[in-house]
Amino acid sequence: PPSSRVSLTVNGTRRTVTVDNRTSLLDLLREHFDLTGSKKGCNAGACGACTVLVDGQRVNSCLTLAVRLEDAEVTTIEGLADGDRLHPLQQAFIDEDAFQCGYCTPGQIVSGVGCIQEGHTGSPEEIREWMSGNICRCGCYVKIVRAVEQTVA
Ligand code: FES
Repeated sequence: PPSSRVSLTVNGTRRTVTVDNRTSLLDLLREHFDLTGSKKGCNAGACGACTVLVDGQRVNSCLTLAVRLEDAEVTTIEGLADGDRLHPLQQAFIDEDAFQCGYCTPGQIVSGVGCIQEGHTGSPEEIREWMSGNICRCGCYVKIVRAVEQTVA
């Protein structure tokens, strides 16, 4: 199958790779770069478990073709902490106990960071609306919203 070379920055590190043109960003991260924090829930854009930031924007990495990301800056859950210091939203998820099984958590946190950066945090309802692409089957939404609110405050 046709393949292409792509150079992009992932969590601050420049990477160049040749991949099958059909490779999703999610598979690039998980299978080529060993960054398995981003989860494959539905692989169809419906759950948000694969959410990463591309040039600061939230995207479903399962729906994003890797070869289209020449010179893009990608941030995954692995790139949020500052050394041993968790990102404030990661800490808030722990403090608020905002997960049960944890499978959706990386996507929830990255999406929450995007939501905060976009300024969609005026009320619990607004947070819920702007994070509605991130599904939690354990139903931890109240605590997830609280963690985002606490991080903004
Ligand atoms: Fe990408 Fe579900 S795995 S949205």
